[in-house]
Amino acid sequence: MSLRFDGKVAIVTGAGGGLGKTYALELAKRGCKVVVNDLGGDRHGTSSSSSMADKVVQEIKSAGGQAVANYDSVEFGDKIVKTAIDNFGRIDIVINNAGILRDVSFLKMTELDWDLIFKVHVKGAYAVTKAAWPYMRDQKYGRIVVTSSNAGVHGNFGQANYAAAKSALIGLSNSLAQEGAKYNILANTLVPTAGSRLTETVMPQNLVDALKPDYVTPLVTYMVHDSFEESGKVFEAGAGWYGTIQYYKSKGKVISHASADDIAKNWSTITNMNGAEYIGTITEQSARLVSILEEHEASSGSSSASSGASSGG
Ligand code: NAI
Repeated sequence: MSLRFDGKVAIVTGAGGGLGKTYALELAKRGCKVVVNDLGGDRHGTSSSSSMADKVVQEIKSAGGQAVANYDSVEFGDKIVKTAIDNFGRIDIVINNAGILRDVSFLKMTELDWDLIFKVHVKGAYAVTKAAWPYMRDQKYGRIVVTSSNAGVHGNFGQANYAAAKSALIGLSNSLAQEGAKYNILANTLVPTAGSRLTETVMPQNLVDALKPDYVTPLVTYMVHDSFEESGKVFEAGAGWYGTIQYYKSKGKVISHASADDIAKNWSTITNMNGAEYIGTITEQSARLVSILEEHEASSGSSSASSGASSGG
């Protein structure tokens, strides 16, 4: 087993079952000390119990590994990080995995459905990562994973709340990748597909059985290893397939002083993806726009267009 984690400390949120459990077991097997966090509630984000996390800790210890349980909700990230510091003295890896579902059509969605999803997925990932960040910055080392979903990438019927939250996590991770670069803190997004108690409500049983969480575990394990060098990227795993998801922008068309009619007339060119380019950061995109503004200036003889152009929303 060449990818080892000796001396490293990881927090895996929602590690009492499903995907998170497999991450915790695998990291521990490879020498990592693991905080097994799980609120132990149901899949809709209600109730709690300590037994889920305890069982995983027991399993790790029985196999000779080191782990400690934490039962706090991910909203209280500082308590989860405190468990890591109090028991193991450091925190190197955060896998934001805890999740719930409140699937319902948008028409019937309540504010509670919306808020609970954001509380667990977005506020939870924020709170745990935020509490770990100063330690990672000081030690100039950190590996962060957030868990998105194909619903976050493509949207999904009946999951407007979940899809929006899962999409938000990509923005979080991509931003942390940029802020962490100077400090050797890498942040990436995982898009998994696996049979679990979360997906058994939306997948037929044969698919739930076939899509083993263990197909996802090797990717996550590599994503939080020392030797991993990517940051600000999205990686996907499911059914034994591993890949990456990237944003490409069409070459588009530059039209000076366009009217809506010009946009309509040129629609097929604007949206043609032949020769589309990968744009990695907002800085690259801003630079692109500034150079276009300069072309406008050059062709119109004006001199004010590009001054003050910067990155932004
Ligand atoms: P799961 O329900 O088996 O595991 C989620 C775990 O999170 C549970 O053990 C639960 O008790 C825990 N949890 C829930 N709320 C919590 C909170 N507030 N604080 C701490 N722990 C909490 O589900 P699964 O499938 O393993 O999901 C893991 C992650 O992967 C989730 O973020 C989910 O949205 C995401 N995901 C899963 C997919 C799949 O196909 N299974 C697809 C796309 C994303």
